[in-house]
Amino acid sequence: MTSHTTIAIDGPVASGKSTVGRVVARRLGYRFLDTGWMYRAVAYAGLSAGLDLHDHDEVSQLAGSLTMRLVEAERGERLLVDGEDITDLLHESHVEQGVVPVAANRSVRRVLVQQQRLIATDGPIVMVGRDIGTMVSPDATIKFYLTASQETRARRRYEERKNTPDSPAYKEVLERLVHRDRIDSQRAESHPADDAVIIDTDSLDVCETARRIIDLVEGA
Ligand code: C5P
Repeated sequence: MTSHTTIAIDGPVASGKSTVGRVVARRLGYRFLDTGWMYRAVAYAGLSAGLDLHDHDEVSQLAGSLTMRLVEAERGERLLVDGEDITDLLHESHVEQGVVPVAANRSVRRVLVQQQRLIATDGPIVMVGRDIGTMVSPDATIKFYLTASQETRARRRYEERKNTPDSPAYKEVLERLVHRDRIDSQRAESHPADDAVIIDTDSLDVCETARRIIDLVEGA
């Protein structure tokens, strides 16, 4: 288990956890890991290898064979998979859709949780995901769970993507988000940890949310 400071930030799709987590990490001088990247990386590698992402055994074998490394670069943290920087490819539409069966694969989850715990042993870190407070780091120093309404989250995701080449319409963003919420909510570990501080970000911007978290961390 972790012996360094670990700040766990969980929350549903587009709750702002990655943006806020990155700001908190930068202000505190901690490393930052978006665990969603790791599920996306397995989906990306599976698609590249031509696998059927619903094939439980093939995908879990693949996940076990990948070496993932988090490195700091000038443009922020990067995820290297088998030495290749695939960070920029993780948010493409086909990866976004392929990640759903990957995240539902119990063996993949076991492999990735193990790797995430290992990364956390390297020093202070802000980790964001769905199950950090419940599964990856139940003994985290402090845990947060960010929420916001589905409409607010869909609007944020839509704004984020609207100038990209395959940007979806708002209605499509909302539909996908509702679908992913339904899948996430079926996993017990994706619910807030009992000891998490819940922050509703509907009326808070990134700076305000980060401030609230830092105040609580510094007061902890
Ligand atoms: O947060 P993000 O959208 O990047 O997550 C990608 C996928 O990985 C989602 O389907 C999410 O449910 C899953 N995930 C997970 N556990 C985590 C982080 C992400 O199941 N700790």
